Amino acid sequence: MKEHVDLLVLGAAEVVTVADGQGLVANASPRRGADLDALEVVAGGAVAVREGLVLAVGPQDDLLPIYEAETILDARGGTVLPGLVDPHTHPVFAATREGEFDLRARGGTYQDITAAGGGIFSSVGALRAATRADLAGRLRAHLDRFLACGTTSLEAKSGYGLDARTEWLSLELLAEADRTHAVDIDPTCLAAHQVPPEFKHDRAGYIELVTGTILPEASRRGLARSADVFCDAGAYSVEEARTVLAGAKRAGLALRVHADELAPVGAAELAAEMGATTADHLVKVSDAGIQAMAAAGTAPVLLPGTCFSLRLPEVAPVSRMIEAGLPITLATDFNPGTSYVPSMIEVIALACALLGLTVAQAITAATRNAAATLGLPGVRGQLAPGAMADLIVLDVPNHLFLGYQTGWNPVVSVVKGGRRVYTRGTPTWGG
Ligand code: NIG
Ligand code: FE
Repeated sequence: MKEHVDLLVLGAAEVVTVADGQGLVANASPRRGADLDALEVVAGGAVAVREGLVLAVGPQDDLLPIYEAETILDARGGTVLPGLVDPHTHPVFAATREGEFDLRARGGTYQDITAAGGGIFSSVGALRAATRADLAGRLRAHLDRFLACGTTSLEAKSGYGLDARTEWLSLELLAEADRTHAVDIDPTCLAAHQVPPEFKHDRAGYIELVTGTILPEASRRGLARSADVFCDAGAYSVEEARTVLAGAKRAGLALRVHADELAPVGAAELAAEMGATTADHLVKVSDAGIQAMAAAGTAPVLLPGTCFSLRLPEVAPVSRMIEAGLPITLATDFNPGTSYVPSMIEVIALACALLGLTVAQAITAATRNAAATLGLPGVRGQLAPGAMADLIVLDVPNHLFLGYQTGWNPVVSVVKGGRRVYTRGTPTWGG
C-alpha cells in the first residue's frame, strides 16, 4: 500500500530545494559565506505535499514507489523552485510615475525630482485623494502580478499616506489583501518615508505624530509587524531616524531601515545599533556599517531593480558583505518611483548582471534568506520536509536559466500551501 498525499509534483528536470540536505527537516536559518552558493539541486526530483506542507523531496524514482496522490502536477521537464520571497515592496499607491522615469532619462536626478515636490510627494498627493476601493483594486492587481512572477510571500510597506488616516488605511488594505489573496503579506509601517508637506517646518512634530500615534496604534491593531524609516540624504537624518526607530521599538515593532542608498550617512550603523532586522539598499554603505551589521545580526536587503531603474553608477558592495558573513537577501523594492519591477526572477537576473552574484547565490538570497527576515509563520523559501508547500514550476530546463534568460516570465504554475493558485494563461486565482 502506498502512502496517500495531497499533491505530487512530478516530471521535473530539477528540483531546487535550497535546503540543508535530502531528508533533513527544514531549517529556517539563512545562509552565509560559501554556503550561499551551495544550492541543493535534485536532478529528476519530485515533491510530495500533505496538509499544506512538504512531506518529502527526492529523486522521483525513490518517491513514486512510496507515495500516491489525488492531484499530480506535471512539471513537464521544467525546473521546480521554492516560492520566491520578496522582503521589500511598496505596493499600496494610487498612480504610477513613468513621467519621472522619462525626466531622469532627460538628465533629472531622483533628488531633484523630490526637491521639486515630485517623487514620494507626488505619490502622497495621489494616495490621499484616492478612494479605498480604487486603492484596493490596484493592490490586488499588483499582487496578481507578483504571484504570476512566482512570489508567494512578501513584505509590504505603507508610506505614501504620511498621515494617520492614510497610513492606517494603507495597512488595512494590506491586511485585507493578506486575508483574501494567495500571496502572504508581512506588513511594515513606513510612515517615516518622508516628512509630509504640512510638517515641512515642523519635522519634529511629524516624528512625534509617527512615534506617539501612528506606530503605536498600527502595532496595537496588529496592522504592522515592523516599522521602517528612510534614512538618507534628502530624507530622515540619522538623529531623526534614531528617534523614529526608538519609538517603533517602544511600540513593539521589529525594525527595517532604508539605509545609505544615496549617500553614506551612517544609516547601516544606526540599523545595527538599534537591532534592526534588515538594512536595505546599502549602495553607499561604509565598511564600518557592514561590520556593525555583522555584529548585530542585521541582514542586508539588496535592491538591484532600483539601481537599474535610477541608473545609479554604483551598486551595493555585495562581495564585502558576503566576506563579512552577512546573510544577503534580494528584493524588488516594487514601487511607482524607483523600481516598477514586480518580478523576483528579473531581480535575480539583475543581481547576477549588476551585483556579480552567481545564480545559486541569487536564488538563495531570493528564497530562504529573504524568508528569514519575515515574521510569517512556518518555514518558507525552501523545499524540505516540514516547510510550507509554496513552490513554482518554471519552463526552463535548469536553474541557471534564471539570470541567463531575461525578458520572459518562465513561471508556469504556482502552488501556495499545497494548493495550485496560478497556472499560466488561466487566471485560476479568483479570490
Ligand atoms: O525604496 N528610497 C526610498 N523609498 C523608495 C522609493 C519610493 C519612491 O520614490 O516612491 C525606495 O526606493
Ligand atoms: Fe523601498
